[in-house]
Amino acid sequence: MPERLITHLRHVDIAVPDFGKQLEFYTSVWGLTQVGGDTGVAFLAAEGSPEQYVVRLREGDKRLDLIAFGARDSAHVDELARRLGAAGITLVSEPGPVDTPGGGYGFRFFDIDGRTIEVSAGVAARAHRRVEEKEAIPVRLSHVVLNSTDIDRTRDWYTEHLDFRLSDTLGDVMHFMRCNPRHHSFAIARGPHVSVHHISFELRGLDEYMRGTGRVVRAGARFIWGPGRHLAGDNTFSYFLDPQGNTVEYTTQLQELDEDSWHPHIYDMRDPMVQDQWGTANPMNELVAKESFNDVDPGLFVAPPL
Ligand SMILES: [Fe+2]
Repeated sequence: MPERLITHLRHVDIAVPDFGKQLEFYTSVWGLTQVGGDTGVAFLAAEGSPEQYVVRLREGDKRLDLIAFGARDSAHVDELARRLGAAGITLVSEPGPVDTPGGGYGFRFFDIDGRTIEVSAGVAARAHRRVEEKEAIPVRLSHVVLNSTDIDRTRDWYTEHLDFRLSDTLGDVMHFMRCNPRHHSFAIARGPHVSVHHISFELRGLDEYMRGTGRVVRAGARFIWGPGRHLAGDNTFSYFLDPQGNTVEYTTQLQELDEDSWHPHIYDMRDPMVQDQWGTANPMNELVAKESFNDVDPGLFVAPPL
């Protein structure tokens, strides 16, 4: 298998109108650590992750600012930029120094639905630490799921241009995509418009995942689906709405694949065992599904200001 140019998911950057409330939720309830920022900008790290930050919050009209992926080195960044340019894809910026914590070398472009994507390499690792037993805070970012109006078209674009592979599919409902042996680093969900479906954070293990779920419930966040264990990816799930209506997930134990022998399953989301192997979660239905449609994103094909 030729080496992939994308190695992993780095961070998700979002803008929210009620910045103070969102920052308070992500730090005091969700368990992220603020590591930097300025007026109206905050960089939030996961304690167990070498990434400088896993979420960047910006005060502004609600939108997805960008999704950042890592590459092995600057040569791979250049190679990807050359490849995308040759395929006629709009580059938002040419490869160059990255002006965010940790520095590095990267560039930005629009994906087929107009989201801004950043790919970078050479970013300094953050001094992270082991998350201890019973410490119910995110270890790292797990995956991001995006609503698309034509999920097959988005899947094909990520496969062709960014070397993602299909791990499993829920037919016309969702495609799970990987860029390394983890079952999915991102997924594409069928939605009425292009927007963020959910952002998922990995907890240390089952106990920490349940403790974290309970803490967020007690804090009064809207609990929309869970606790349960999906069939695709075999990971656990608890989905909440953040104060601005973005869906955020606690998960753990996401499957790692033997990529040589793996072949995608086609699962039927109407099967309760596909939704939740444990049977502990509320049943998925149209009302629950709608909670993660999110608002129409005004940031498509518009580069974020930072
Ligand atoms: Fe998820």
